[in-house]
Amino acid sequence: MKLLHVVGARPNFMKVAPVLAALRAHSHVSQLLVHTGQHYDANMSDIFFEQLGIPAPDVNLSVGSGTHARQTAEIMLRFEPVLVSAQPDLVLVYGDVNSTVAAALVCSKLGVRVAHVEAGLRSFDRFMPEEINRLVTDRLADLLFTPSEDGDLNLRNEGAAPEKIFRAGNVMIDSLVKLLPLAQARPVQFWRGEQLGEQAPPHAQPYALVTLHRPSNVDDSATLKSILQALIDVTRDVAVVFPAHPRTRQRIAEFGLRAPQLQLLDPLSYVDFLALQSHAQVVITDSGGIQEETTYLGVPCLTLRENTERPITVSLGTNTLVGRDPQKLKTEIARILEGRQKKGTIPPLWDGHAGERIAKVIAAQLPG
Ligand code: UD1
Repeated sequence: MKLLHVVGARPNFMKVAPVLAALRAHSHVSQLLVHTGQHYDANMSDIFFEQLGIPAPDVNLSVGSGTHARQTAEIMLRFEPVLVSAQPDLVLVYGDVNSTVAAALVCSKLGVRVAHVEAGLRSFDRFMPEEINRLVTDRLADLLFTPSEDGDLNLRNEGAAPEKIFRAGNVMIDSLVKLLPLAQARPVQFWRGEQLGEQAPPHAQPYALVTLHRPSNVDDSATLKSILQALIDVTRDVAVVFPAHPRTRQRIAEFGLRAPQLQLLDPLSYVDFLALQSHAQVVITDSGGIQEETTYLGVPCLTLRENTERPITVSLGTNTLVGRDPQKLKTEIARILEGRQKKGTIPPLWDGHAGERIAKVIAAQLPG
């Protein structure tokens, strides 16, 4: 039986890897991998394939960047003939990026069944492009694999048929569990070299790890300026390590902002970033996945957003929402540096075996 996986952007790659690997154990399943090309820089894509052991894509749609409409439409246009020619029994889509919703739409129109991995997450904030992608994808999907109980509840509240919903656990944590030993074995001097310079050597001195890329934080000049100023203030108390997303770097340049106190790094590979996360005193972020990774690692996470589609990282994990309030950020950082950080627990089914559970459900559904 033939499965087709569609991925496109950086956070998809750590989700597809364990599912692809687990499905390989089922001999009646053949698999094709389509990369939409939403992310295309080597350090946003190729390095993740290498480190996560993902085979080279069978097809790359090379869509590149664009407005939401253009990017989504381009993926649909280029994916349709691939789908018609491949004729898979099921298409798997991951997370909440534009590639996810575009592929789900094409499949539905052609009557091809869709499975959504990481279904049911809701921020209840429709100004977030990902929330639209999540709502539409879940509405169209035939199989809904959720990472946690809140996902099931959201889907049921929206009227999804209970027999479509499978609580599989968190696939991204599968990749983390697999590669954490490698990350933690990274030699200390790795970060002392040209990447980080002498200023922020992990292990030797505490540091805050920062990521920032949400349109709501970086696309408005005044908002971005105030966040950068808050981060500059943080450098008075603790070193800041800041691998910057290309979107963020572009906006800083475009708005003529200057923040020499913040040493911006290029985006890091999966293993390097995981290593930095695991040794950080605190992580400051607006990413979705990093809220989950820090919860697993037990590292305090301060999220620069008013809401989260991953509330379990707040209720059970180490995550605290600080919004865009510089004072709250400062207070929380002080609390953490004094050793009074939030102690979390790891949510159920975030155990490194979510991919296997998904593969089992799929293999049982497909004609053998
Ligand atoms: C996308 C996802 C977001 C996810 C993020 C992770 C959507 C709507 N957003 O946001 O959910 O958290 O990926 O990174 O799908 N760029 C490059 N090189 C690349 C890719 C992008 O330079 O390899 C630059 C381009 O200028 C592009 C901009 O980054 O216009 C934004 O890329 P895009 O894929 O549109 O959205 P992300 O902000 O990466």
